[in-house]
Amino acid sequence: MGVVGVVGVVGVVGVGGVVWVYGGSGARLQFNDAATRRLEMEPPVRERKPFVGGNWKMNTNRTTSADLTRGCVDALAAIGSVETAVFPPFPYLLAVRSILRDRGSSIQLGAQDCYFRPDGAFTGEISLEMLKDCGVQLVLAGHSERRHVIGETDEIVNSKLRAILDAGLTGVLCIGETLEQREAGHTDPVNQRQLRSGLADISADAMSRVVVAYEPVWAIGTGKNATPEDAQDVHAKLRRVIAQLYNAEVAERTRIIYGGSVKASNAAELFRGADIDGGLIGGASLKAPEFAGIVKAAAGGSR
Ligand code: 13P
Repeated sequence: MGVVGVVGVVGVVGVGGVVWVYGGSGARLQFNDAATRRLEMEPPVRERKPFVGGNWKMNTNRTTSADLTRGCVDALAAIGSVETAVFPPFPYLLAVRSILRDRGSSIQLGAQDCYFRPDGAFTGEISLEMLKDCGVQLVLAGHSERRHVIGETDEIVNSKLRAILDAGLTGVLCIGETLEQREAGHTDPVNQRQLRSGLADISADAMSRVVVAYEPVWAIGTGKNATPEDAQDVHAKLRRVIAQLYNAEVAERTRIIYGGSVKASNAAELFRGADIDGGLIGGASLKAPEFAGIVKAAAGGSR
C-alpha cells in the first residue's frame, strides 16, 4: 500500500500528514505497463500515510451516531499510523464533533457534501463556512450516489472541490465507473475523465489537501469487490494522470483510496496494491469493531 522505492535516501520530512523520504537522485516515479507488478516491488522506503474514512451516508440517528462515535474512538485509540475520519449526516456533525473533541480523539470530522456558493438563496444547501463552523475538516465531493442518484455533473463536482479547497479544507474527490461502463470496456476513460474534470483549475499546492477515492459504482453496497489487481491497475493509472496534470512529486504524495464493499475480512487483501492508500468505507463503517478492523488492515500495510 502506498509505497514507492527510492534510491539513495537522504532525508525525511512530513507534509500535511504525508511522510516523505527523499532520494539523492530525486523522487522517482515508477510506472510499469503491468501495474500489478508494483505489488512485488523492492522494499519500500517512502510512503503515503494511509487514510480510512467512514461514510455513514443517510444512516444513524441522534443516539446511534453518538454511540458509533464513542465506539470508533475506543476501537481506534490504539491504532496509529493511519489518518481516519468519519462522515456523519449533517444533523449530527456537532454532536459527533463534541464527542471527538471531549475524548481527545484524532479521528477527523468530515461532511458528505456541501454547496459551492458562499451564502444566499439556496434552499436546503449547506455552505463551507457553515461546515467549518461545525468543526468539519474534510468534505466528500462527487460521491457516486450524488452523481447517479442526485444527478451531479462533473462540473458541479469540480465547483464543489474547488470551494472545499478554497475554504482551506481537505477534499475527497470520489470517482468510479458504473457496471454498464465497465462491461463496455470504458473503465479507464470514465475514471480518467472524472479525475481530470474533478481536478480542473486546482493548483499543485492545493493538491496536498486532495484525497482521491476510487469507488467502482457496481461495488458499492453490493458485496462485490474489484480484485486487488484490478483496483491496483486503476489506481496506478490514476496516479499517472495526476503526474501528467501536475508532476511526479504531486502524483506520489496524493493518496488514492479504494471504496466499495470493503470489510475487515477483505481490507488487507484490497489494500495490498502499491497505489492503494486506504479506503472509503460505507456499510462496514457503521459498526465500530468492523471499521477498526479495516483501519488495522490499513495500518498493517504502512510499513
Ligand atoms: P460500501 O462500503 O457500503 O460499499 O460503500 C462504499 C462507499 O460508497 C463509501 O463512500
